[in-house]
Amino acid sequence: MADTEVDKKRRRFLIGATSAVGAVGVGAIAIPFIGSLTPSARALAAGAPVEVDISKIEAGALVRVIWRGKPVWVVHRTDEMIEGLPSLNDKLKDPDSAVEAQQPDYAKNESRARQDKYLVMVGICTHLGCSPTYRPEVAPADLGADWKGGFYCPCHGSRFDLAGRVYKGSPAGTNMVVPPYYYKTDSLVLVGEDGGVA
Ligand code: FES
Repeated sequence: MADTEVDKKRRRFLIGATSAVGAVGVGAIAIPFIGSLTPSARALAAGAPVEVDISKIEAGALVRVIWRGKPVWVVHRTDEMIEGLPSLNDKLKDPDSAVEAQQPDYAKNESRARQDKYLVMVGICTHLGCSPTYRPEVAPADLGADWKGGFYCPCHGSRFDLAGRVYKGSPAGTNMVVPPYYYKTDSLVLVGEDGGVA
């Protein structure tokens, strides 16, 4: 009986010792992992600017990057997309980007961009924060004959044009947000900084 009791205690001790080793092992793995974060990874987590190579984006395509935990879209607009923007003004709530908070001054223009060809925009609906879908096609059956391409929010049906301007009749009240950005070179856009140029 006494032997059995000793065995039980021994077994308990062994289980405890194994668990303790396991815990130390996890700690030992976790510390180098945290330590291996590069300065740029730390900076990114804190909201550092994000570089986007726009030379790789095909005409009409959208690429998505994450800046400060938010999706940011870069759309390579075609000539047709750009030319179609002014024709929509009567259908929009804020065609001239009068609401200051929605874009920097250099994006307060017809295309809401530093250069017409590339739209840079935070991909979050200004109604309740869903992420709209990119719908570049013209007159698809579900969006109607007047649709000239843009962004459609599936949550409550807000519609935005290819400059992120909100359509009248949408639950969203304001245009989508253009973040600070600038062109480092002809093919590199830095999202998150103005580059000292207003
Ligand atoms: S969150 Fe986009 S329409 Fe409501």
